[in-house]
Amino acid sequence: MKHLIVVAHPVEKSFTLALAHAYAEELEKIGQVQQTRDLYRMGFDPLMSADELASGASGDAAKAQDDIRAADVLTVVYPLWWLSMPAMMKGYVDRVLARGFAYESDKGNVRGLLEGKKVIMITISGAPLPLLIASGNWNAVQVLQDTHIFRAAGFTLLEHLHIDKVAPDMPKAIAEKHLARVRACAQEHFRGNLL
Ligand SMILES: Cc1cc2nc3c(=O)[nH]c(=O)nc-3n(C[C@H](O)[C@H](O)[C@H](O)COP(=O)(O)O)c2cc1C
Repeated sequence: MKHLIVVAHPVEKSFTLALAHAYAEELEKIGQVQQTRDLYRMGFDPLMSADELASGASGDAAKAQDDIRAADVLTVVYPLWWLSMPAMMKGYVDRVLARGFAYESDKGNVRGLLEGKKVIMITISGAPLPLLIASGNWNAVQVLQDTHIFRAAGFTLLEHLHIDKVAPDMPKAIAEKHLARVRACAQEHFRGNLL
């Protein structure tokens, strides 16, 4: 299968990037084909312009749509910032998952156009997941990100893997456990699935 990994974090040595690379390496180990798009290092422009809003994706957004067309599985990797995605990832969603490519809408009814494609979400938070669940915040994440963005565009969500309690002073053993979880995610969904 062909995988497109899209990751957003400003710091190249961040734990977010380490998770994306571990996932990509594991996919390759089991014979999957992947390409990783590191939005910050590519200099992706997250700002929707007036021209693009009127005429559809151009430049790096049009190329990013080609990446999605060519992929069977999209994996997005980003930290939760203010419970949402970093502006870089949000800009990618705005410009790339655009009307006419990812969805059509008629009188408020939205129809996803990317049916048949799969998505895996890997997100990271400082807060413990049980706290996010108890406060209702996790439900908000799922409604706005899993459902309102990716499912609405027609993707089948295979897994939303959330890595919580990520902090700069995280012990190495804990970091290794988290890295093992993303590797296991790649194995679980794609080992032996080369179609
Ligand atoms: C601008 C900003 C906003 C954040 N907002 C949240 C938040 O709302 N909830 C949360 O649990 N963590 C929040 N965090 C922490 C991050 O989700 C994450 O734990 C942190 O970026 C660690 O990942 P990294 O080492 O890859 O940077 C925020 C971090 C930043 C920089």
